[in-house]
Amino acid sequence: MLVAVSLDGKISPRRSPGQPNPVGPGLIGDDIMALHNSKRADADGIMVGLNCILLDDSRLSLREGEGENPTRIVLDGLAQMPPAARVLTPDAPTIVIVSNDAPPDRVQTFRDLGAGIICSGQGRYVDLTPAMAELRERFGIRKLLVEGGGTVHRSMIAEGLYDEIHLIICPFVIGGSRSITPVGRAAFWPKGKVPEYNLTEADVMGDYLYLIYRPKKPVN
Ligand SMILES: NC(=O)c1ccc[n+]([C@@H]2O[C@H](COP(=O)([O-])OP(=O)(O)OC[C@H]3O[C@@H](n4cnc5c(N)ncnc54)[C@H](OP(=O)(O)O)[C@@H]3O)[C@@H](O)[C@H]2O)c1
Repeated sequence: MLVAVSLDGKISPRRSPGQPNPVGPGLIGDDIMALHNSKRADADGIMVGLNCILLDDSRLSLREGEGENPTRIVLDGLAQMPPAARVLTPDAPTIVIVSNDAPPDRVQTFRDLGAGIICSGQGRYVDLTPAMAELRERFGIRKLLVEGGGTVHRSMIAEGLYDEIHLIICPFVIGGSRSITPVGRAAFWPKGKVPEYNLTEADVMGDYLYLIYRPKKPVN
C-alpha cells in the first residue's frame, strides 16, 4: 500500500467525475513524484479500485521514457469501467478483476481491448484473496503496489493482504469531513480488533515524511 496523505489525514477531497484532482504533480513536490515513479518501476503490478479510474482516469504508467511499465490492475466487480479509460490503452499490460456478476458483454469488451481477466467472487466487491493468488500464479505478479483508493485499502487490510504500508505525509491540509481518508468504509472497531503496525523506516524528505510500517502480526 502506498498513500500520500495530507496533514489532516485525507487523500483527496470528495469529487465528482470530471472535477480535477488537486493532489497531484502541481501540488506534490518533484522529489516525491520521483519517489512515486520509482515505487511503480519497482513493482510487477500497480492496482487501483474503479473509483480511481472514474475520477482520475489514471494511466498507471511510468513517466515517459523511464522504463517498462508494470502491469496495470483494476478492481471492477461489475465491469463498469468505460472502454475509453486510459488504463485500457496498449501502453502496458492490463488486468481487470471482475466478479461472476459482471455482464459478459462488458467483460468481453475489456478482452477485445487486450486486457487479461480474473473473475472472483460475487457482486460489486471482488473476492480479493483468491484474486491475489491468481495474479501471482497465472500472471506472475509477485510484487504488487496498491495505490488505492481508501475503499480498496480497507478491503486489503481486512483480509490481511498487505505486508507493508508506505505512507507519505504531505505538507498541506485538504479539510472537509466528507473527504476521502486512506482507509474508508466501516471502522475495524467495534466489530473486530484494529490492525496494528511497527514502524520500520522513516525518512525526512524536505517538508515530507516517508514512513514504512509492517503488520505486527504476519500477513496471511
Ligand atoms: N493520495 C493518494 O495517495 C491517492 C491514491 C489513490 C487514490 N486516491 C484518491 O482516492 C479516491 C478514490 O478512492 P475511493 O475509496 O473512492 O475508491 P477506490 O478504492 O478507488 O475504488 C473502490 C471501488 O472499487 C471497486 N471494487 C471492486 N472490488 C473491490 C473490493 N474488493 N474492495 C474495494 N473496492 C472494490 C468498487 O467499485 P463499485 O462499487 O463502483 O462497483 C469500489 O467501490 C480518489 O479521489 C483518488 O483521487 C488518492
